Amino acid sequence: MKLLCTLSIAILLFSCMATSETKTQTDRQIEFSEKQLSLLLKDAEAANNIPRTLTADGEMHWIHKNFDWTEGFYPGSSWYLYELTKDEKWRMAAEKFQAIFENQKLRLTNHDLGFVFNCSYGNGYRLTGNEAFKEVMITAGNSLITRFNPNVGCIKSWDVDKGWQSTRGWKYPVIIDNMMNLELLFELSKLTGDDKYKNVAIAHANTTMKHHFRPDNSSYHVIDYDPETGAVRNRNTAQGYAHESSWARGQAWGIYGYTLCYRYTKDPAYLAMAEKIANYILNYEGTPEDGIPYWDYNAPNIPNEPRDASAAAVTASALIELDGYSKTSYRAGIDKIMNSLASPAYTAKLGENKHFVLMHSVGSIPHNNEIDVPLNYADYYYLEALVRYKELENRK
Ligand code: GLY
Repeated sequence: MKLLCTLSIAILLFSCMATSETKTQTDRQIEFSEKQLSLLLKDAEAANNIPRTLTADGEMHWIHKNFDWTEGFYPGSSWYLYELTKDEKWRMAAEKFQAIFENQKLRLTNHDLGFVFNCSYGNGYRLTGNEAFKEVMITAGNSLITRFNPNVGCIKSWDVDKGWQSTRGWKYPVIIDNMMNLELLFELSKLTGDDKYKNVAIAHANTTMKHHFRPDNSSYHVIDYDPETGAVRNRNTAQGYAHESSWARGQAWGIYGYTLCYRYTKDPAYLAMAEKIANYILNYEGTPEDGIPYWDYNAPNIPNEPRDASAAAVTASALIELDGYSKTSYRAGIDKIMNSLASPAYTAKLGENKHFVLMHSVGSIPHNNEIDVPLNYADYYYLEALVRYKELENRK
């Protein structure tokens, strides 16, 4: 009996060791994210609201009732967890929380409909084939393309009739972030067979390629156009340190944006643009050894400046996709960022960080908003990067 008992304990111990040894860092991060975001789901259920970040005093910043550009990321993270775990709990969570903002599909006053609806309903349609989700995406896409002006060749990012945007003297501001909204449009042309969406996306990507980049391939945040002639009026920043500085998340939106343009068009000009931005990001000498950038590459008090894990997560996800298209291998850069994000320096402890996965992101320092906090989009792009990294590792 005693021998049997010792033998069973030994077998149990051996199998536990074998399981933990065969688990990759990616598997462990996915398991952790599921546990941590299960805690966040309980909070969100109790509040019946979508978590965005933390306030300056460390409380949860729930998304208010008005439109919020980040509202699609939380259901989007649930969709990625559904993809990773096949647990119905995540499908139900995604559906419940994306329904909260469905009526925003008719909004004509904001360019972020691509972010909002592609990350939520877009992932939902990809994973379930639910036709009702596709209809929501089409309505949102139709709203988004009303903001395209052929004189400029771009979708207008911000309206300038109110809010802080009205104080800058802009007429037709287009931000590098807007490249991310093109994914919804490309996807819609694929789903509907109607080229009107992708024609807007291609014009926007081409105009942006012409005017948003400096000779070193860093990008301006805001280009302000003349809506009548399409001439560039101003080259500015809103969330970066200075007009001529290089805002970290802007570089991340750029590499992601041109990589997705290449995915849908196979136009080598987009691949080349994504590669040039990758080169800028990965070879920037001022970036610390762990590969997580400061919030702006030219922030004035480096090394005493906050890092932006959200920029790193977006970049990692984009680089993994780009690695599959390019002759250049980005594996070293990808591994560096993914290892850093998985480390205790950036991944929270279970039950801490108000149940977000990643710590140390920045929303907007010039607006004194969301400095060194978790952000729902840092988690969203990190989960996406984990999905893609797992596929990359499985291909090897
Ligand atoms: N699209 C806004 C931001 O990146 O903060």
